[in-house]
Amino acid sequence: MDKQSKKVLIDNQQLSAEVITVSDRCSRGERVDMSGPALVRLLQKKGYAVTKTCLVPDERPMIEQELREAAQHDIALVLTTGGTGFSPRDVTPEATVAVCERMAPGIAEAMRAASLRITAHACLSREVAGIVGRTLIVNLPGSPKAAMENISAVLDALPHGLATLRGTVTDG
Ligand code: MTE
Repeated sequence: MDKQSKKVLIDNQQLSAEVITVSDRCSRGERVDMSGPALVRLLQKKGYAVTKTCLVPDERPMIEQELREAAQHDIALVLTTGGTGFSPRDVTPEATVAVCERMAPGIAEAMRAASLRITAHACLSREVAGIVGRTLIVNLPGSPKAAMENISAVLDALPHGLATLRGTVTDG
């Protein structure tokens, strides 16, 4: 097993992850979800156990329900893709803020800063990240390119944050 595919272990347990695709068109079957599967492959390559994926329309109550369920199941990391832009239907950040107990603004700041070096359109994502229980939720834009570019900016920093959140590492 090469270094890239080592499991991410905290207290000898592989970190779990879930990917939620938020898209009206994908959920109606009008478009194939490419971003969700790409994120799953990346997470697995980085050593996470992806225990669930799901596809929901841009409906705030449904997004909130999926996020709350993930926290109830103690999923370590939840990535959402889609619904972070300016369309009136884009409500993923609002659903995330509603569910989270504490926000982690540095994650979105880092993703946007890295993305701005690639495209000026990066400032159009309203993505947020936050914590509910022992679960970290990170919003990503909807296109596979944008989702991968954003998550790649922070992915290597997440295990330390997750270990801290899960009480196995103390900072300071
Ligand atoms: N970030 C990166 N790294 N690369 C991109 O191509 N696209 C932007 C932005 N962030 C983009 C990006 C665009 S065009 C939009 S509209 C917003 O993400 C929101 O995307 P969403 O509505 O699919 O969530």
